Amino acid sequence: MPDTPWEEMRALAQKAHAHAYAPYSKLQVGAALWTGHRIHVGCNVENASFGLTVCAERHALAQAVAAGERPEALLVFATTPKPIFPCGACRQVLWELCAESLPIVCATPAGQPLTFHLGQLLPFAFEKGLLQALGLAPPMP
Ligand code: THU
Repeated sequence: MPDTPWEEMRALAQKAHAHAYAPYSKLQVGAALWTGHRIHVGCNVENASFGLTVCAERHALAQAVAAGERPEALLVFATTPKPIFPCGACRQVLWELCAESLPIVCATPAGQPLTFHLGQLLPFAFEKGLLQALGLAPPMP
């Protein structure tokens, strides 16, 4: 399995961030997600009906899923003074399909990137295992 290509991910996330559609918040975010095979990117896409906004991370995750792949590493990029961390909704959606150990790097143009793993950002997660234990969901991979 090739090493995680963090530098390439950063460059692609920066490119995707430039394409973000964020006329309301003006906060443009890019994400790059490595699956072990390739890098998928996403950006935030806002809407006049604010609640329909899609975050960069969920956008990238959906791209990976559409390719039949699963995330192994995630990089989030924004041109903010401090790094942007995945929002709570994105943490939950990532949890569904990623390992607890998923590395997440939050990067800006100038500052030191911050690195976490998903389990640190979402302790005591609500997850499908609980639903399965309650007989409310079938076993799944
Ligand atoms: N946003 C992301 O795309 N990812 C995050 O991790 C946090 C927030 C977007 C959603 C919205 O378009 C804008 O940033 C402001 O919340």
